[in-house]
This record gives sequence, C-alpha cells and structure tokens, in this order.
Amino acid sequence: MKAKPRLSTELENALEKWAEESLAGIGVFRAKTPDFEKWKEKTIESLRSVYSDETIAMFLSTKDDRKIEKPDGFARITGSCGDTMEIFLKIDNGIITDCSFQTDGCNPSKAAGGMVAKIVKGEKINESKKLTPQVLLNALGGLPKEHEHCAALAIDTLKKALKSLEKSRRRKDSHTSVDDGIDYR
Ligand code: FES
Repeated sequence: MKAKPRLSTELENALEKWAEESLAGIGVFRAKTPDFEKWKEKTIESLRSVYSDETIAMFLSTKDDRKIEKPDGFARITGSCGDTMEIFLKIDNGIITDCSFQTDGCNPSKAAGGMVAKIVKGEKINESKKLTPQVLLNALGGLPKEHEHCAALAIDTLKKALKSLEKSRRRKDSHTSVDDGIDYR
C-alpha cells in the first residue's frame, strides 16, 4: 500500500520526481523496469528513514540556491568533506534584505543553505551573527550525525559572509565620512 502523503501535493510530486531522477542516475528507468513504482516507493521510504520532513521539504523546494549579482556580503568555504558552500548577502540599513546560497554538496547541505537563507532574510545583521549550527539543526528537524557538519558548513559560511560586510564597510568608509548608524560588530 502506498504511504500516506506527509508533505503538500506540490512537494510530494517533487519528491516523486527526485526519486525518479535518483533511480535514473543508477540506470533504473520506468520504461525498462516492471516494478518501477515499488523501486520509487522504496527510494522515498529510505530517504524518509534518514531525513526529517523539514529537511526534505527544504532541499526540494528552496528557491534560494541562486547567485546574487553584486552582493554586499559573500563567502565561500570548502568543508572537510570536500564540498563547497557559497553565501550571498544583500544589506539595506543593517537588515539582510536578501540571502542566497550555492553548493555542490549533498542534499542536507542544500537544505541547510536554504534554511539559513530563510532564517536570516529580513533579520538584523547582529541577530544573524547569533545563529548557531544547533539552531539550524533544530529548524531542519535534525540531521543524521554524519551530516551535522553540513549545517556547520552553512553557518560558518554565513558568518564569513557577515564578516565580509565589515571589509566592504571599511572600503566605503575610506570614501565617505557619513555614519550610517549601523553597528557592524
Ligand atoms: S556538505 Fe559535504 S557531505 Fe554534506
């Protein structure tokens, strides 16, 4: 019997598409596999046995895995696993008006980047600096131990991108004496 849907129809459809693409990646195609639907269900079941609905929903649906042209803040970090995360920030008057990410990493790193963007958008710079891997892990409904470093990579990259704002602020300051009243510490 087919499992009861746990996500919105749109996300359940995206999950099925993800499963079909994953199966195609290992050479299992609908046209050539009589019990393809079973394979698909098994693939979805095994994903669900490892990741929370929050993590699955985020990596399937985030629209923030994109580049921001001329960002105010930017950082790129390659983690110990060899995967790279980039974070882009747009700032206005001390508020993060836009945040996006790009990664060549695993699905949890995509979920972590998407969740970071969701959390910090509209947030003050100083508040965003307080974000920790644990807060991110909670928002993702947890990650398996062996993927907790993916959340840490997203947070480290965010912190570095926030730090890069100080450099652009110093560059600005060398051209103007106007104080914008924002505490960048
Ligand atoms: S970021 Fe490298 S395994 Fe997740």
